[in-house]
Amino acid sequence: MTAHRLPTAGSLAPTPPPLEHGGRLREAAARYRIPVQNWLDLSTGINPDGWAVPEVPGTAWARLPEEEDGLEDAAARCYGAPGLLPVAGSQAAIQSLPRLRVPGRVGVPKVGYQEHARAWQRAGHTLVRLDGGDPGDEPGAGADGLDVLLVINPNNPTGRVWPMSRLLDWHAQLAARGGWLVVDEAFMDTTPQDSLAPYTDRPGLIVLRSLGKFYGLAGVRVGFVLGTSDLREALRSQLGPWTLSGPARHVARLALSDSPWQEATRASLRRASARLAALLSDYGLVPTGGTDLFQWVCTAEAPAIQDRLARQGIWVRRFEAPPSLRFGLPGGEASWARLESGLRCLASDTPGDAIPRAAVEAPGSRPFSSVAPPLAPANGDAR
Ligand SMILES: Cc1ncc(COP(=O)(O)O)c(C=O)c1O
Repeated sequence: MTAHRLPTAGSLAPTPPPLEHGGRLREAAARYRIPVQNWLDLSTGINPDGWAVPEVPGTAWARLPEEEDGLEDAAARCYGAPGLLPVAGSQAAIQSLPRLRVPGRVGVPKVGYQEHARAWQRAGHTLVRLDGGDPGDEPGAGADGLDVLLVINPNNPTGRVWPMSRLLDWHAQLAARGGWLVVDEAFMDTTPQDSLAPYTDRPGLIVLRSLGKFYGLAGVRVGFVLGTSDLREALRSQLGPWTLSGPARHVARLALSDSPWQEATRASLRRASARLAALLSDYGLVPTGGTDLFQWVCTAEAPAIQDRLARQGIWVRRFEAPPSLRFGLPGGEASWARLESGLRCLASDTPGDAIPRAAVEAPGSRPFSSVAPPLAPANGDAR
């Protein structure tokens, strides 16, 4: 009889370090010694005025989650999708989809949410890094030589949007060879008319949606995979039962059914994003791109600007390649005023006084003019 050996640390496969992400406010707070509660966090593309979560019934906590609670129907209606699978944030699907295919050539955007590239690479696929995220502007040439094309539409952080006709054309080319077009629509809720959701009964077309951005519910960890029933079954089997908690299912169903809130929010985010673009431009930071949830500014000064804003307790997301900053939307007039004051200090080359006094006086904090430890490089690319 063979002896059964328990795995030891030596048998663990080596794992790459985690990627950088926006929203890591505690890390920034420790680095700049400013208490977490005194920051203006603009480092993500999350709606600062998200859907208000009501009280969750006790049964949602106490019982095992059941699929017949109406969540799938509500989501399918909201997205206009023929069928979908709820997942614990679109990140769960990003990590699992690559394991459903034999290794192949996968086109991923050079600038964009890098968890995609990481997941395909870890599953043994060969990456083809696409400049601008586009496999080619030649008609018919686009997806040649790829087994999978990954498009983030709109892209984070560039804000680039691909027209539906181009995407459907790429999908047709890929599907004819058994390939996939995967479209990450995490930032699509503000422009639902551009979504490929209605076409996801076509084999080889997979769309990912998220409740984390538009609904401002990043913490609840809810996303959806829109695709054929075969694809959904394969993914469901890989993820196992109860991928969403009962409270998450409850909250997601209500948020996805609240169309008056969705409509009003689309309009208010559009206004807020235009206001942000104008404000940044007023201070010489003209956006290179953006969506209704963030603005993206390419500038060689990105490290210095991030640092100087951080010393005032304003946290923005920096990318290395290309050197750039992403600004999320401030929520409420006090936050807008604080951002403007921070930008004014940048423009006037003064240290600024944007941190509330409490921050300066809080134990363990130090004034913005003190020297913070050097920034760890944020390795390119969007999160
Ligand atoms: C483009 C994009 N896709 C997907 C995700 C993952 O989002 P979630 O797992 O919260 O749905 C993010 C998170 O920042 C993102 O920026």
